[in-house]
Amino acid sequence: MSAVLPAGIEAAAGLALMHARCFDEAWDAKTFQTLLRMPGAFAHVAWTHAEPAEPLGFVVWRRAGDDAEVISIGVLPGQRGRRLGRRLLRTVILAATREGARRLVLEVAEGNAPARTLYAQMRLTEVGRRRGYYRKAHGAAEDALIMARDL
Ligand SMILES: CC(C)(COP(=O)(O)OP(=O)(O)OC[C@H]1O[C@@H](n2cnc3c(N)ncnc32)[C@H](O)[C@@H]1OP(=O)(O)O)[C@@H](O)C(=O)NCCC(=O)NCCS
Repeated sequence: MSAVLPAGIEAAAGLALMHARCFDEAWDAKTFQTLLRMPGAFAHVAWTHAEPAEPLGFVVWRRAGDDAEVISIGVLPGQRGRRLGRRLLRTVILAATREGARRLVLEVAEGNAPARTLYAQMRLTEVGRRRGYYRKAHGAAEDALIMARDL
């Protein structure tokens, strides 16, 4: 069992710890502070119901005009495949709709199969491509797909 709750700037250090476990290129707490100070920026964290609660995953997103953009989403390695990613995205969809956004947008590396499956399941479709946008560990470039859905 888990709960997805909104998080504020005080969560920056915890978000950085989770991000480091989810991505090769870690963002530090200062980066999350800067992100969360941007107008229209929000974070949500999935927590266990244990006492004390342990974080399981996060999403940071931003409303800009008609768009809600997912800036980063991650579920801790040992917690994947339990539909937390789906719950986090659903939370964004509900909150962004409430905030008046009309479209959900995000970017994903072309080779990120788990994320692409999740996004397809949530009815996001490819609307653009940035060629060679990501640099992989061994130096090869990878395209970023821009995906979107109406809200
Ligand atoms: C992408 C990510 C957030 C998905 O989180 P998750 O909690 O494992 O996802 P869910 O359990 O909600 O899975 C939703 C669907 O995605 C698909 N999926 C999840 N993991 C998958 C995998 N390893 N391979 C293929 N498909 C997968 C499944 O179809 C699943 O649906 P199902 O439960 O009906 O089978 C997680 O893998 C992650 O944190 N990855 C590292 C960070 C990252 O890449 N973030 C996205 C950057 S754009």
